[in-house]
Amino acid sequence: MSHKLIQEGRINIKVPFFEKISSKAPVFYNPAMELNRDLSVAAITRFQMDRESEIKICDAFGGTGIRAIRYSKEIEGVCEVVTNDTNPLAVRLAKENIIMNNLNNVKVCMEEANILLRQRRGEFDVIDIDPFGTPSYHVESAAYSLKSSGMLCVTATDTSALCGTYKEPCIRKYGSMPLKTEYCHEIGIRILAGFLARTFAKYRKSVNLKFSHSTQHYMRIYITSDKGAKITDNSLGNLGYILHCSNCLNREIITGITPRLPLKCAICGEQYKVAGPLWCGKILDADFIKGMLNIASAIKINKKKKALKILETCYEESNAPATFYDLHKICKKLKISVPPLERVLKTLKNRGYFASRTHFKPTGIKTDAPLKKLKEMINDI
Ligand SMILES: C[S@@+](CC[C@H](N)C(=O)[O-])C[C@H]1O[C@@H](n2cnc3c(N)ncnc32)[C@H](O)[C@@H]1O
Ligand SMILES: [Zn+2]
Repeated sequence: MSHKLIQEGRINIKVPFFEKISSKAPVFYNPAMELNRDLSVAAITRFQMDRESEIKICDAFGGTGIRAIRYSKEIEGVCEVVTNDTNPLAVRLAKENIIMNNLNNVKVCMEEANILLRQRRGEFDVIDIDPFGTPSYHVESAAYSLKSSGMLCVTATDTSALCGTYKEPCIRKYGSMPLKTEYCHEIGIRILAGFLARTFAKYRKSVNLKFSHSTQHYMRIYITSDKGAKITDNSLGNLGYILHCSNCLNREIITGITPRLPLKCAICGEQYKVAGPLWCGKILDADFIKGMLNIASAIKINKKKKALKILETCYEESNAPATFYDLHKICKKLKISVPPLERVLKTLKNRGYFASRTHFKPTGIKTDAPLKKLKEMINDI
């Protein structure tokens, strides 16, 4: 296996040299995930700031060791980081990289992730699940293992399932019905968040969403979790369904485990399509993201511009209601040309409504304005 040296954040690291990014590579390394790692450094730094003692982190799917090494070197107040991988070549490379970066608090393990997490229950303040494809096979062990008030960071690259291109895999893996709409990526994040909440609930652990984003081919969620029956029941109160009308674009959000779901659109009478059960509550925490913004602007990261852009948009949309409208789709329905998005946002705000962009889609509008008013407003611009 030939190698090359790369620089990310504040580290230099040896990664395998291969033409095509593939899970078949001798050791997996994906340069496209640098932004994901940069944002992870900012999120865990923000999480650590609320802690009174040093934290212990586990990267259960470590690959080259790049995350663990970055977490150790770039985050204050970390006493130990474990990088784990079942691939012996990855383990060997991670060991070399740790020595190259002169770190003595990064430990290497070669275990199946579920086994490692179950064996070391209650040890980790932060667990990072960054597998190939779905994290669904490992969330249960993370829920069992995570220390109380800890943080779980989880990546899903099976976006075709979560976004509803293929329904059955989503139902099998997450026990939830996806829906292919203009906001299917948001639905995907909400399905994953709902799955986390249901899985953590078995252990009387709550789920608080701190930050989440959908970028390129993956979704990433950061939650904190506390122990207790009452707070767990409260977090389960965020579960529910999204009803979507593809005729007039109306949608309804209905919470509850067994709510009564209207079959037909309240505006035009068309049959609703249903997504869920999923997380209907907040998927972004404004205060947490503000902290991440300050951190990301201060630290040394190569993808700073992109990281700040995502964080700024997520901050803007953090208090928005669930789902969003696509300006182009509304204009197509109205059979009119598309006005500038900024003008629509400004008009909505002038009329006293919440209005923001969304990181999910450049043409997306998050607003609490009723659909009828929104359509009238767009028509009048
Ligand atoms: C997507 S890669 C991890 C990338 C790494 N976190 C990074 O940021 O570069 C997934 C890794 O998990 C390893 N792996 C796959 N299944 C595993 C399992 N069940 N337990 C532990 N490691 C596993 C693979 O060998 C691979 O290195
Ligand atoms: Zn309708």
